[in-house]
Amino acid sequence: MTTIRRFVCDDLFKFNNINLDYLTETYYLPFYLQYLSKWPSLLSMAEDVNVLGKAEGEGENWHGHVTAVSVAPEYRRIGLADRLMHILEEGSEKVYDGYFVDLFVRKSNALAINMYTKFGYSVYRTVIGYYSGDEDALDMRKALPRDVEKK
Ligand code: COA
Repeated sequence: MTTIRRFVCDDLFKFNNINLDYLTETYYLPFYLQYLSKWPSLLSMAEDVNVLGKAEGEGENWHGHVTAVSVAPEYRRIGLADRLMHILEEGSEKVYDGYFVDLFVRKSNALAINMYTKFGYSVYRTVIGYYSGDEDALDMRKALPRDVEKK
């Protein structure tokens, strides 16, 4: 059974299995510690599953940002990304009072693009050459209740 909980410092020693996935964005340790200290409610963890997020922007651009979503192969297709994304969206709405949630995804990552579309995200813009190797990113967004006009 997998239990979803808040991310803690010790989890930094546990998730190399996820970081080995070639579609998973990886970061240096102080990066995770910065997220943990600033936006603790936007980081969730289960066994070999990780969602990392932050709140950023100004005025009507104030929003939750999904920095990384990764589920180890042996735990996929049981709804964990769905559940963790929901927790992040809830935090972005109720804790940070954001207008929307956004994320960047590789243009070639059809599986993730389809998944985010199913979760209610749509493509807002393409960011040319955003990823290493010069791959474009799709900036996908989902409006939160505070964005009453769904801009
Ligand atoms: N094939 C087709 N659709 C898939 C899929 C697959 N292998 N995996 C997920 N989906 C879609 C389905 O619509 C699914 O809903 P359903 O099971 O009711 O049909 C929906 O996404 C949610 O699936 P869920 O079980 O919550 O996803 P997951 O926990 O398996 O995690 C990823 C999905 C993308 C996070 C996981 O495959 C992963 O870690 N991939 C590598 C890293 C990555 O690409 N991260 C995203 C970068 S932005």
